[in-house]
Amino acid sequence: TGSRKNDAQPVTINSVPLAELAPAKINLALHVTGRRADGYHLLESLVVFAELGDRITVAVAANDSFVVDGPFAGDVPRDGGNLVLKARDALRAAYPEHAVQPVAIALEKNLPVASGIGGGSSDAAAALRALSRLWRIDCDKTALASLALPLGADLPMCLAGQPLIARGIGEELDPVSHFPALPVVLVNPGIAVETPKVFRALASRDNPALAPLDSADTVLDWLATSRNDLEPAAISIEPSIAAVMAALRRSGASFARMSGSGATCFGIFDSAATAARAAAAISSEHPSWFSAATMTRT
Ligand code: C5P
Repeated sequence: TGSRKNDAQPVTINSVPLAELAPAKINLALHVTGRRADGYHLLESLVVFAELGDRITVAVAANDSFVVDGPFAGDVPRDGGNLVLKARDALRAAYPEHAVQPVAIALEKNLPVASGIGGGSSDAAAALRALSRLWRIDCDKTALASLALPLGADLPMCLAGQPLIARGIGEELDPVSHFPALPVVLVNPGIAVETPKVFRALASRDNPALAPLDSADTVLDWLATSRNDLEPAAISIEPSIAAVMAALRRSGASFARMSGSGATCFGIFDSAATAARAAAAISSEHPSWFSAATMTRT
């Protein structure tokens, strides 16, 4: 009504909802090169991010809240177990003088959960980006990454969100410049795989390092010299991962591999059009699988 329009509302620029994409993370290569005394594995990984992802929206509100929608909303915890809420609480604890306003957080869950493409970590990283803007926390990326690492080894790379080589357990990040935009298809067989279980099933923990990536232009040749060392362990736990890679190759991928600890695999295609056709063909052949074409972000 007209009278409602005139109701005085406290207006600040921060009350406008802020949205951040939480892109799918793709480990183009992942070598397991050792193990730390605390049991965490030392990795070397070439990581890129996709145009496809979840979406986080934050807004100042009267009370804290958290809602989830989207195709995979049912698989996401709504309580303190969710990394998004852990990220909110960690940011608040680190910057209590800035983080005074309660926040409404919405998560649109478009990506399968526990699937090797960063899901929870990317959501939490997007929440940190969005909330530091909303609360006007002027912290540098390094400070945000140190705050994020205890929440999960993949958080710092997801905060960076650009092509990079990750080392250590994921805290040492080297950006890769001039990386090409690759047409990819992401396929998941609809089965969650627990990361610790995959690491426990590893046959070898001391594998060769990545070869130097001299130029991002020759990445397709370079990929043939690399591996995902978690693949055999993940396939022993979830054999359908091998079927997913076979389906990608049959549908025209020039290269197919598992991402992270699985079960999602990616295929690289010649063009966005061939990728889109392959994603559609795999979806119709395997209606219970998740299959989506996207581009990698440069
Ligand atoms: O850090 P994040 O929560 O992603 O790790 C989940 C589990 O995966 C860890 O508790 C650990 O068992 C295993 N992990 C590992 N080495 C890594 C990352 C994860 O052993 N670099």
